[in-house]
Amino acid sequence: MIIKPMLRSNMCFTSHPEGCDKIVKEQIDYVKTLPTIDGVKNVLVVGASTGYGLSSRICAAWQMKANTVGIFFERNAEGTRTASAGLYNSVAFEKYAAETGNKHYSINGDAFSHEIKKQTIDLIKKEFGKIDLVVYSIASPKRTNPDTGEVTASFLRTIGEPFNTRTLNINTGKLTQISLNPATEEEIAKTVYVMGGEDWKMWIDALQKADVLSDNVKTVAYSYIGPKQTAPIYRNGTIGKAKEDLERTAHELCEKMADINGKAYVSVNKGLVTQASSAIPAVPLYISILYKVMKNKGLHEKCIHQIARLFKDFLYNKDGVPTDEEGRIRIDDWEMREDVQNEISKIWDNISDETVSQYCDIAGFQEEFFQLFGFEVPGVDYEKDSEPSVQLNPLPL
Ligand SMILES: NC(=O)c1ccc[n+]([C@@H]2O[C@H](COP(=O)([O-])OP(=O)(O)OC[C@H]3O[C@@H](n4cnc5c(N)ncnc54)[C@H](O)[C@@H]3O)[C@@H](O)[C@H]2O)c1
Repeated sequence: MIIKPMLRSNMCFTSHPEGCDKIVKEQIDYVKTLPTIDGVKNVLVVGASTGYGLSSRICAAWQMKANTVGIFFERNAEGTRTASAGLYNSVAFEKYAAETGNKHYSINGDAFSHEIKKQTIDLIKKEFGKIDLVVYSIASPKRTNPDTGEVTASFLRTIGEPFNTRTLNINTGKLTQISLNPATEEEIAKTVYVMGGEDWKMWIDALQKADVLSDNVKTVAYSYIGPKQTAPIYRNGTIGKAKEDLERTAHELCEKMADINGKAYVSVNKGLVTQASSAIPAVPLYISILYKVMKNKGLHEKCIHQIARLFKDFLYNKDGVPTDEEGRIRIDDWEMREDVQNEISKIWDNISDETVSQYCDIAGFQEEFFQLFGFEVPGVDYEKDSEPSVQLNPLPL
């Protein structure tokens, strides 16, 4: 079938298999140019099919030459509906990863469930023995309680005061006004339940109990802080509370893993175009200004550049892992540079419908957004028929 983008409210509901394949290959080709990191044999990535998690899996496979297990929750094609981009990405990952000569397995299912944790542990025991690095990169709007089956949704809300701001309509490239209401205590608690550290802890607990974590294991989960302009909705809002919980969990996990000298980190990453970030009000406008400023200064990075730097300069830095005073890794260091943030503030305060295309990298944002779903990828013939249904490699169980 001929596959075209179908866009609604900053989300795209179709994906293109050949386009996704090319974007995955581009990331792999970049990582192949980097020096190897030695000593990491087996890597588990939870949330491995798109965004930061996909780049983490690619860096594990080619930068560290490790075996990988990737966990994600993606849908296959059905009728006229295409598969989700994460499935196309993962099929492409498996295809190219065959050349590494290492083992790479994918599990498509709900990472919050007991079954997927058990299936993962059984696979690790059978194929790998022990895991040296666990990357936790889930972004999900809801979580099913593994014991009761109850589904809890998270809330994108402010805390205390309502918030009026502008955001960018990705389809039209125009500014729109939005207004967000403050969350109730219950909505804050639900957001922390869905996006906080509890499930990360449950993964580490289950892996540790099954004795599949190696001595000196490392685990990292991803967080965001961001600028003052998005603080009411992000860092000081409901998601910020969830991220604080995630950051607290890192300290708890370090204590729990002390007997195997395990270390847990939160890495604060740069704001980037991903499926998760495009859905957060005000963030697309901020990111399109950020892209303009960082590209002008030669500082722009995509997920793959961020994670390659995280692994080389931070997590596996021979002189120790550099962190801030709260123990967090800061690969948002370039985004948060004073000169970068001062320029963004000036633009943010003065931007209007007339100046938006001059001061925002709308074209860059739109291109990266469409490429998340395999569209607008140079060299792909979008008038050609594509087979929307794909298959992951079978598991050796
Ligand atoms: N995008 C940004 O700007 C940014 C910046 C800093 C930190 N982060 C953080 O990085 C992490 C990953 O975010 P992203 O932007 O790469 O998101 P993303 O939407 O690109 O990826 C989310 C991943 O989670 C998986 N997933 C979702 N629900 C699942 C479930 N129930 N079971 C198994 N897998 C599931 C998806 O399949 C996908 O692989 C998040 O913690 C996010 O807060 C993102």
